Amino acid sequence: MIDFRSDTFTKPNDHMLQAMMAASVGDDVFGEDPTVNELEKYAASLFGKEAGLFCPSGTMTNQIAIRVHTQIGDEVICEKNAHVYKYEGGGIASNSLCSVKLLEGERGILHPDQLPGAFNNPKDPHFPLSRLVCLENTSNFGGGSIYPKENLIGFREKTLEMNLSLHLDGARVFNALEEANYTSQEMGEWFDSISICLSKGLGAPVGSVLVGDQGFIDKARRVRKSLGGGMRQAGYLAAAGLYALVHNRSRLKEDHAAMREIAEVLKPLDWIEQVEYPETNILFFTTKGPAQNLVDELAKHHIQALAVAKNRIRMVGHLDIAPYDYQVTKSLLPKLEISF
Ligand SMILES: Cc1ncc(COP(=O)(O)O)c(C=O)c1O
Repeated sequence: MIDFRSDTFTKPNDHMLQAMMAASVGDDVFGEDPTVNELEKYAASLFGKEAGLFCPSGTMTNQIAIRVHTQIGDEVICEKNAHVYKYEGGGIASNSLCSVKLLEGERGILHPDQLPGAFNNPKDPHFPLSRLVCLENTSNFGGGSIYPKENLIGFREKTLEMNLSLHLDGARVFNALEEANYTSQEMGEWFDSISICLSKGLGAPVGSVLVGDQGFIDKARRVRKSLGGGMRQAGYLAAAGLYALVHNRSRLKEDHAAMREIAEVLKPLDWIEQVEYPETNILFFTTKGPAQNLVDELAKHHIQALAVAKNRIRMVGHLDIAPYDYQVTKSLLPKLEISF
């Protein structure tokens, strides 16, 4: 099967497995796992941050960040399809007891000029205190869209003026960084905290790292423990994450190029309604008939895609799709006989 459903489907290759088997480990709840410590330090240093915290998932790193940045009853501002709001099990309510103000972005991307209208007057007790802005870069449901540099600078300026914290859901931040005209160090300056995922296009089986200043990470560590996220000999997993960070970042660009080529192949086909140009590795398109029909037809040819709505399909490029698999997909698509 050539699996385009998500970049979360990647499996460790032999080199990553060897790195895992060779890891030095200890009890990480006691701070004694050397490989976890190395991963946390390395991830933090990439963004010029003081410290990092290794967690089992991106959901946990996001939810811990929200919990540390807020107090009960505060309001979190994010885009209407943000993962932190829509796809994390209602965690903002259940973990942090906060309300959410949703803004409409363009392909998931917010503009800093939207912030003043969303900010509640802190002197009026009718309203929750606006406390935190969460951005997502790249935006998953925006189709892997990338934040422009000026938006990020604008968000930093405005959140400082308004005394708001700024968190980045950077599940795919390295996809963004491969294409954008800014660096990870700059991102570290713009955001108070960043959640990075190791188990998406980077190919590790498990894990995310939350980075921030030392005081923030100390609090985050306490929250992780209370959520049951304190792991013991987690160095075996951290070794996979370190391997992924060192070896698999620069090749993300290949997935982006391949997905753009697939988009070009799809565009002229008569059963296609619209193709959303993929800025990185996530391609969305709409079909003239039921998306599931196409998904079923592709499955007959050993290709998996995801119907995310009645007429909408997502295909995601990642390192377990070999160049040959991309070629096979491109030559197959125009030959498909789709009857809606
Ligand atoms: C944008 C974004 N943020 C966060 C997550 C959560 O990551 P995890 O599945 O590791 O909890 C995902 C997962 O796909 C995601 O796409």
